Amino acid sequence: MNKITAAITAVGKYVPEYVLTNKELETMVDTNDEWIVTRTGIKERRILKKEGEGTSYMAIKAAEQLIEKKQLDPKEIDLVVVATATPDMFAASTAAYVASKIGASNAFAFDIESACSSFLYGMSLVSSYIESGKYKKVLLIGGDKMSSIIDYTDRATCIIFGDGAGAVLFEPSTDGYGVQDEFLRTDGAGREFLHVEAGGSVMPASEETVKNKKHFVHQEGRTVFKHAVSNMADVSEKMLTRNNLTKEDINWLAPHQANMRIIEATANRIDLDMSKVMVNIHKYGNTTSGTLPLLIADYEEQLKKGDNIIFAAFGGGFSWGSILLKWAYDSK
Ligand code: COA
Repeated sequence: MNKITAAITAVGKYVPEYVLTNKELETMVDTNDEWIVTRTGIKERRILKKEGEGTSYMAIKAAEQLIEKKQLDPKEIDLVVVATATPDMFAASTAAYVASKIGASNAFAFDIESACSSFLYGMSLVSSYIESGKYKKVLLIGGDKMSSIIDYTDRATCIIFGDGAGAVLFEPSTDGYGVQDEFLRTDGAGREFLHVEAGGSVMPASEETVKNKKHFVHQEGRTVFKHAVSNMADVSEKMLTRNNLTKEDINWLAPHQANMRIIEATANRIDLDMSKVMVNIHKYGNTTSGTLPLLIADYEEQLKKGDNIIFAAFGGGFSWGSILLKWAYDSK
């Protein structure tokens, strides 16, 4: 019997309607459009303004779009994993709520969190479930409502992040499509440079933590930038060398979208033309766990069966890695 690999067979996406432009940010903090565009590549980002709605709202919409496009019976889904750094709430998983709302009544569901690497690690996790033969239809959703943990008086962070979600269906392939290889790493020494300090078990929420804005993302941008550039480039290069591939064998690079300069540095290292690099940072900013599935959804129509795609990400933790995937279908 042929080896089972984990192929992506459908995608869906959702971004909120509200567009937060650089111009609007100029009215909120001491910044300007030119600085933001030249330093990050971001022109606008989406913000979920709906009162009382969290990450699940976007995750459900992305999953529903996928279900509709694929004409999938949600009862056939075995497992729903939500990759997110901004779950709806603690203790009750966002995935359990999402699975019920989309009608995946025969599935079990749970969340995984590893900041901007959440979706990449999720790809590793769900592909192992598929390769083992244990489950046949696994929905991996990546989404974040970053606006819920951003301080809109801090110009160093509020210009970068946005809200959004994407959903991807993994199914078994016996023709060799799907995940081919992965290289994933973490370094806990990095957590002082990128984190949300309060609200967890180390520093539970209190009047004091709220007053001191400890529930917002704190990032030492320059340090994170340095690590992101070297690690994303390293792992992308590693994916080529250890699979005996040249740049001609790579159809697409799908890099985490944190800063256009990091994206370009990664592409440069593997000498890949920017026309082969998926980019949506200009319109969404950094959507954390939403980034990779949103990229897949935005580029789906351009992807061809057999295309080799290198996914690469870097995020808080620190956490980073790359995955090589062979695309399984022509969408047109
Ligand atoms: N508008 C205008 N000026 C700003 C600004 C803003 N929004 N934010 C910072 N500045 C200023 C700084 O105060 C600093 O001024 P100074 O030189 O007078 O002190 C100057 O711009 C340079 O700041 P610096 O932090 O060195 O800028 P940078 O080029 O590193 O860009 C980031 C800042 C955050 C965009 C960049 O560091 C970055 O992208 N970091 C990595 C992000 C990332 O990968 N995160 C991972 C999450 S997954």
